[in-house]
Amino acid sequence: MEKQRLDKFLSNQLNMTRSEARTAIRRGRTSLSGVVVREPALIIDVETAVVSFDDKQISYKKNIYIMMNKPAGVLSASNDKSRKTVIDLVPDNLKRPGLFPVGRLDKDTTGLLLITDDGEFAHNCISPKKGIAKVYEVLLDGEITVDMPEKFQQGVVLHDGTICKSAILEPLGKTNAKVTITEGKYHQIKRMFGVYNLGVNKLHRVSVGALVLPQDLKSGECCEISAQELKSVFGKEI
Ligand code: URA
Repeated sequence: MEKQRLDKFLSNQLNMTRSEARTAIRRGRTSLSGVVVREPALIIDVETAVVSFDDKQISYKKNIYIMMNKPAGVLSASNDKSRKTVIDLVPDNLKRPGLFPVGRLDKDTTGLLLITDDGEFAHNCISPKKGIAKVYEVLLDGEITVDMPEKFQQGVVLHDGTICKSAILEPLGKTNAKVTITEGKYHQIKRMFGVYNLGVNKLHRVSVGALVLPQDLKSGECCEISAQELKSVFGKEI
C-alpha cells in the first residue's frame, strides 16, 4: 500500500504544481469519499482512497505510458531552453510531472516514441540486454548492395570501431528498407549506413517490441497506451 500526502497525489495525478495543489485543497475543491478535505498534508492510501477534484473522481494511475508519432524538427528531451521538445507536444490530459522520452530519436527522425514517468520501464525498453526490437523504415541517398543484409546480420562495425549487435536489413526497394535493431547507440542507423557510404534521407520508427505505431495516429499526436499494449512491448509482463 503506497501512502502519499494529498497535495502530492493531486499534483502527480492532475499535473499541478505542489503549491497549486495546496491552494486548491485549502479552497475545498477536493473531497475524500465525498467529504471535503482542506488539509494538504493529509496522508492517503493512493490505491484505495476515493479522491475527487471539483466533484470529478480521480482514477489513480501509478505511472503513465504514452505513445507519440514524433514529428520531424522536435527534440527528444524533457526540456530545452529554446527548442521545442516532445514533452511540449503532450496534451494536457496526459501531462504529468516527471515525463521523459524513452530513449532518443534524432531531431529529424519521425515515428513511434514512448513517453513515460516510469524509469524502470524505460530502462527495460532501452537496455540492449533486454533485446527489444525497434523497427525503422529508412530512405537512403543511394542504393543498397546485395551484401549488406548479410553484413547487418553479422553486426556492422562502425567507423570508430564500435561493434553493433546483429541487425536485420530488409530492402523494400533500391534505396529504401526496413531495419530492425535491438539496441540504441547514438545515431546508430545513420552510422551503420554511413559505413557503406550511404546517407539517410528519412528515418521513421514503426514499432518497439510488438507495439506498432497505429496508422491513424497523426504526426505530432499522442495516445495513452493500455496495459495490454504495454505488455506487448516486451511480449510478456515485466
Ligand atoms: N538511429 C539513428 O540514426 N537515429 C535515430 O533517431 C534512431 C536510430
